[in-house]
Amino acid sequence: MEHIRNIVASEFDEVNDLIVAQLESDVALVENIGHYIVEAGGKRLRPLLVLLSAGCCQYQGQDHIRLAAVVEFIHTATLLHDDVVDLSTLRRGRPTANAKWGNAPSILVGDFLYSRAFQLLVAIGDMDIMANLSETTNTIAAGEVLQLSRVGDITTTEEQYLDVIQRKTAILFASACRGAAQLASMGTSDTKRFDDFGLSLGMAFQLIDDVLDYEGDAEEMGKNVGDDLREGKPTLPLIYTLAEGDAYSRKLVQHAINERSTEHQDEILSIVSNNGSLDYARNIAGSYAQQARDALSHLPENSYRDALAELVNIATIRRR
Ligand code: IPE
Ligand code: IPE
Ligand code: MG
Ligand code: MG
Repeated sequence: MEHIRNIVASEFDEVNDLIVAQLESDVALVENIGHYIVEAGGKRLRPLLVLLSAGCCQYQGQDHIRLAAVVEFIHTATLLHDDVVDLSTLRRGRPTANAKWGNAPSILVGDFLYSRAFQLLVAIGDMDIMANLSETTNTIAAGEVLQLSRVGDITTTEEQYLDVIQRKTAILFASACRGAAQLASMGTSDTKRFDDFGLSLGMAFQLIDDVLDYEGDAEEMGKNVGDDLREGKPTLPLIYTLAEGDAYSRKLVQHAINERSTEHQDEILSIVSNNGSLDYARNIAGSYAQQARDALSHLPENSYRDALAELVNIATIRRR
């Protein structure tokens, strides 16, 4: 990742400076929580997608810096809200904002970040990009609600799961890449390819996130392992176990999801880690990664495109 960031090093620094500058508020708590989450790091993957996609399109302006900050603000706002909804206590290697300040400030600062993102979009002043990001933000919100309505639902299908992750995660990756192509005034078909690339990459990224929730390392990830199970969230590893597991595993998982019970948590974590469900999810992530590579193969060939391809590889083997 470091090596890829270096390709756009000075722009990447500009984005980070803009992000910090745009946290400015006359309300101290807004700035405190904003700096706390933003400066905890995070991979800044979505801004990187904007910068690399813009480079791939040979974009010559300066608005990609703003667009990258917009996308990271929208992402960060969803994280503040998501950690409240998911009752998560660790994020980016630190206690979550909700663990430190409580739910109310986390929600409200999330709102601040969303609205600041839209102020920055107004500064870019492109109606098509505004439509892109506003539709995406709306889709993410609906996706998170849809996911919430499936918590505790053992009948959730793989198809329904894929629909949720497309809405809550993949769409923002697509938007970031498409937005860069829009800035560079690329034609309809290339703009669509950037969108397709981002969407497939985002699907692979969330599938791996859901695998890491079972077999990752909290220290490496900067967030806790087992959050999804604790919450009764039917992600692909559980959906697979419910469909393909033996009677005993199915019963344990049904009980855990139905009752949001942590009673057999360690046993389920071990079952899921050993029954092929994580390999199954990794395989599906692999086929989305391949779709992302296919979309890339039609785009202008340059070092930025190579870096985007490298990001696809990283997304599938990542540990954090
Ligand atoms: C976390 O995204 C939320 C998901 C979509 C899985 P990232 O893994 O990109 O989070 P940060 O920004 O690096 O912390
Ligand atoms: C991604 O889902 C959340 C959003 C897109 C807002 P998760 O709930 O799996 O993300 P983490 O694991 O908390 O980062
Ligand atoms: Mg979460
Ligand atoms: Mg997760």
